Amino acid sequence: MSSHLQPRLPLALQQVQRLVFGAGSLAAATDHLRAIGVARPFVVATRSSRNHAASLHPGACIDSSISREPTLEDFHRLLHQVQGFSPDAIVGIGGGSALDVAKLLAALATGRQSLAEVWGIGNLAARELPLFCIPTTSGTGSEVSPNSILLDESAPAKRAVISPHLVPDAAFIDPELTVTVPPHITAATGIDAMTHCIEAYANNFAHPMVDTWALDGIRHIAGHLVTAVRAPEDLDARTHLALGSLYGGLCLGPVNTAAVHALSYPLGSRHHLAHGHANAVLLPHVLRFNLSAAPQRYAAIALALGAAACGSATDTAHAGISQLWRMMEATGLEMRLSALGVAEREIPSLAAEGLAITRLMRNNPRSITQQEAESIYRAAYHGREEELTQHCE
Ligand SMILES: [Fe+2]
Repeated sequence: MSSHLQPRLPLALQQVQRLVFGAGSLAAATDHLRAIGVARPFVVATRSSRNHAASLHPGACIDSSISREPTLEDFHRLLHQVQGFSPDAIVGIGGGSALDVAKLLAALATGRQSLAEVWGIGNLAARELPLFCIPTTSGTGSEVSPNSILLDESAPAKRAVISPHLVPDAAFIDPELTVTVPPHITAATGIDAMTHCIEAYANNFAHPMVDTWALDGIRHIAGHLVTAVRAPEDLDARTHLALGSLYGGLCLGPVNTAAVHALSYPLGSRHHLAHGHANAVLLPHVLRFNLSAAPQRYAAIALALGAAACGSATDTAHAGISQLWRMMEATGLEMRLSALGVAEREIPSLAAEGLAITRLMRNNPRSITQQEAESIYRAAYHGREEELTQHCE
């Protein structure tokens, strides 16, 4: 793939030691816990995953109180429970919210380090307990990533802990667990996963090892998202989404995301807009802004999205954005910030908060000024705009 974006640094891949993918993987998790002698696991589950959690291990202590993006308070409440139970392993089962908390609990269980000491990149000294993750949505890829995100309600702001110690020992990805995910969550989480892939592929630190996962992840999700939204029990479509989500998660550690994620965080922390939905609302507008910085990369993304090649790379890349809009409309996601409780007067401060997330903004292929970030938000506030030029359509 030709592009001006070339790997500048050696890339380290730190992955789960055991990755089980496919229908029936939940049973493989049970077998694995037994085989390695886990006796007292503490299981962090989302409410909708409680029944699956109950089937995992007879000696488990299960908490299923996480029902939204987790807060610092949620973490400390569960840490207290974990310290009272003294588990020999931590299991996360559910969406990214449950998995992110499980990962931090496994790392900080004995209190040798506090949460305040480990914010940011690389500040975690070790993980104290074995850690196993079982996703029940196709979105965050947290089961294979080194990232945990919590909501600091006092700011409010999303805060991240990023460390190779947060990569679980094993991940069990069972697409059968995702067939009960409702359509709007399927759509939002699927777009989140696709955004992980897109932002890893068009990224200042893009790398050939990760490009393969990124492009294939886009193909899997773009080709099957609308089917999974319309026919939730279609296991074939669910399997493709689960693969795309896994590939997106594999991109997060070595390369990570960029401006879409950075700009979306304030929408989650201020308005509790679901993470994937916030990304979806911003994605086409950020792509349009970024396109001139890496037309070849965005043309390759367009082809992976299912657009036809046409004319120049720039034209193909534009066709990809149109393809993305059609997909968004078919999923039924509301794409106007104006209809999602955001006031136009908030745009300058939302833009400033997003730009302040420099650990992600530095990855973006085009640098963004305050004024440009406000323009991106304003476009998302109004939703789809007619393109000035029709590209290859
Ligand atoms: Fe994400």
